[in-house]
Amino acid sequence: MDVNPYAPGQPASPDSFAGRGNVIERVEEAVLDALQIRRSTAVMLHGYRGSGKTSALRKIQAVVRTQAPGSIAAEIPLRVHSSEDRLLATIVQEVGRQLSARPRLGEKVKGFLSRINGLSIAGTGVSVMPGGTDRRTSGLAVWRDCIESLEGEKILLICVDDAELLDASGLGTLKTIAEAHSRVPIILVVAGGVELSNRLGQRETSPILRVFSGARFDIGELSPEETGAALSAPINAVGGTGSWRPDAVREVHLLSHGYPFLVQCLASAAYRAPDPIDVPRVRGTVEAALKIGSSWLERECADASDEDIRAFAKIAAQGRARLRSSEIISLGIQSPYIGRLVRLKILKKISRGHYELQKAPVIAYYHALARDLRLV
Ligand SMILES: Nc1ncnc2c1ncn2[C@@H]1O[C@H](COP(=O)(O)OP(=O)(O)OP(=O)(O)O)[C@@H](O)[C@H]1O
Ligand SMILES: [Mg+2]
Repeated sequence: MDVNPYAPGQPASPDSFAGRGNVIERVEEAVLDALQIRRSTAVMLHGYRGSGKTSALRKIQAVVRTQAPGSIAAEIPLRVHSSEDRLLATIVQEVGRQLSARPRLGEKVKGFLSRINGLSIAGTGVSVMPGGTDRRTSGLAVWRDCIESLEGEKILLICVDDAELLDASGLGTLKTIAEAHSRVPIILVVAGGVELSNRLGQRETSPILRVFSGARFDIGELSPEETGAALSAPINAVGGTGSWRPDAVREVHLLSHGYPFLVQCLASAAYRAPDPIDVPRVRGTVEAALKIGSSWLERECADASDEDIRAFAKIAAQGRARLRSSEIISLGIQSPYIGRLVRLKILKKISRGHYELQKAPVIAYYHALARDLRLV
């Protein structure tokens, strides 16, 4: 029997990754700029939970490794609140790990590896490379040493995931990294949730945001075509025999609104082989799909009424994180009701008359499915 090729909750592997063409194109341009004129680039990805930020970072690493073999591609998942020192220490640690795995080392790299051996970063408890000695330095000093030592390398790709965990000094460090006058071209890709854009401030003049100008992308719902690709790519990747009827693809898109995590849940539940998956199969397995998504999604909005979910879904369908109260009211949501959505932490008041969608749209669509609500 075929194995089920879907893995809801796991970041998609690069060969199962679908869509996000604009992001991939920007990264391909950045690779050419790096190789041809040694220019550095900074890219930022915003997205709600489960929208595919980590998956996109994995895909970007694969693109860079394919286009520029031998590049250093460091994935930096933050996991804990991080300051400048911790961020830089973690990057250098990962670069050091990749360099030391190389079969042959240049003199500069050899020197660098011996200097970071046994080095720890003051105040962070992070040791860059465990070793016999125990010397301390600052994150900035070890970072400068690192990029100096990478002279002649093709590209240093740094993918910072869950960047909302950076504190103010950590956010400032993104600018330091992006603007480093280094001899190795740097491609910095930063992914984070809505909190990240809040923290950076909305004004385009924010000095940190300016570093990413022209290369900021919202990672949101997949288009119907992208949903189709997200359904078929995992089957092709494992050489499976299952297939999706076009109307079944449309049904998954309709039910999930193209939200990657929900697409994966529905796909995983409906998967069968070798018979093509049709609409009755998708509809008949919705309950199983909801069960798969429940560990994350069920507890979110547990206290919300059907009316709340309908209002949430209407707002989510606008496809924007920020809305004015007049825009919300024009959706047929009464002004006192907005206060209720704020209490439910679905909306957050940013300033007078300005709100932000705080919860991921996929939560609305999940509950709409679970309660069998018709969304119009
Ligand atoms: N472009 C894509 N193509 C196919 N599947 C995707 C894509 N993006 C995300 N997915 C699927 O959606 C789910 C969530 O993806 P991922 O973990 O990358 O999201 P995330 O934004 O990093 O989530 P979190 O905020 O929880 O870290 C996974 O099951 C993944 O396989
Ligand atoms: Mg993630």
